[in-house]
Amino acid sequence: MPRQQLLFRKDQMKVSKRAQAVPPSATMAVDTKAKELKAKGVDVVGFGVGEPDFDTPNYIKDAAIAAIKAGKTKYTPTPGIPELRKAIAEKLQKENNLNYKPEQIIVNLGAKHSVYESMQAVLDEGDEVIVPAPYWVTYPETIKLAGAVMKVVQTELKNDYKITPEQLKNAITPKTAMFLLNSPNNPGGFTYSPDELKALAKVLEGTNIMVLSDEIYERLVYGTTKFISFAAVSDDAFNRTITINGFSKAYAMTGWRLGYVAGPIDVIKAMDRLQGHMTQNPVSFVQSGALVAFSDPNNEVEKMRIEFEKRAKYMSERLNQMQGVKCPQPTGAFYCFPDISAHFGRTIGGVKINNSMDFASAFLDQASVALVPGGPFGCDNNIRLSFATSMEQITKGLDRLENWLKG
Ligand SMILES: Cc1ncc(COP(=O)(O)O)c(C=O)c1O
Repeated sequence: MPRQQLLFRKDQMKVSKRAQAVPPSATMAVDTKAKELKAKGVDVVGFGVGEPDFDTPNYIKDAAIAAIKAGKTKYTPTPGIPELRKAIAEKLQKENNLNYKPEQIIVNLGAKHSVYESMQAVLDEGDEVIVPAPYWVTYPETIKLAGAVMKVVQTELKNDYKITPEQLKNAITPKTAMFLLNSPNNPGGFTYSPDELKALAKVLEGTNIMVLSDEIYERLVYGTTKFISFAAVSDDAFNRTITINGFSKAYAMTGWRLGYVAGPIDVIKAMDRLQGHMTQNPVSFVQSGALVAFSDPNNEVEKMRIEFEKRAKYMSERLNQMQGVKCPQPTGAFYCFPDISAHFGRTIGGVKINNSMDFASAFLDQASVALVPGGPFGCDNNIRLSFATSMEQITKGLDRLENWLKG
């Protein structure tokens, strides 16, 4: 056979239907453009990133470095080292009033992985998952990859973008397998109150619907807001809930990749089996760093929280003073999620603004500020601004927005 015919032809490259169905992140367009502008030396203000602008506290770094030096560089048990599972169980008991045994806990490679693996463990083809919008952009893809179907419930500004018990009730069908709850919320910046959670839990009583409660922002709540775990509202809620949390946001450990799941023993065992073939175990010395994280000897989590709280108040107050911008004051996480739809139909700097992507893209082009359009979060009337950046940058970016909107 001629050599030409033996060569693998690039146009015959096979990519699975599963992978083809996962689109590139819709938020990336703005991010890529912001990076290009920065590379050209433009003074870009970044409100795009969803990670703390603080460094990981030293006591955590030191513990991980010591673990490497002590030779903790081998495979660990698949669900995590026993000491860490025990420490997580104690944390959940003490801080969240949740009575999980260490066997009911699995440690994963970031809460994103926790979400993915939980869904792989419990969802079947055709199962429905109720997801209130706004939602974190990863949920639709993880639901799809589990073969399930996302049922979006559109929330309203007048309810601070929270799903009501009535809306939840109306969304339930015989195929509903899961209700996805994220409080404090990305991108909405809201937190459900204990009473609101109790009312949602009541709707689920008597059904076999599981709840996936993503509590990654639990430490970042502001003002008089009190965080409570969904599983803590009743015995019934505890039995049906998969609780997700991690180290990224509270301890400024985004790059370390460590999250965890607490839930019914059968779910955790199923995740253990999947994890054993996917990643084997969370990184050995990262687990040693996490093991000391909870001790927080210098109250660093609280110092970061206080700083975020100041920024939340400042940013939302300034946004609300701007023409055609409506923004509930964030009670959690590190995002403002204002409704800017009053500007749709306008032409700013020669560009017609018809949706959140037009808004974000024109604002970046004309005023060099990167923020994220709300469309990919299921709310096209909104934009997301992260306040995980310095007060100086926040002031500069908001000044530019105020001026640009007058244009
Ligand atoms: C709602 C929500 N859940 C989970 C995660 C993932 O966190 P991790 O960095 O631990 O994977 C994020 C990160 O942006 C998030 O916003």
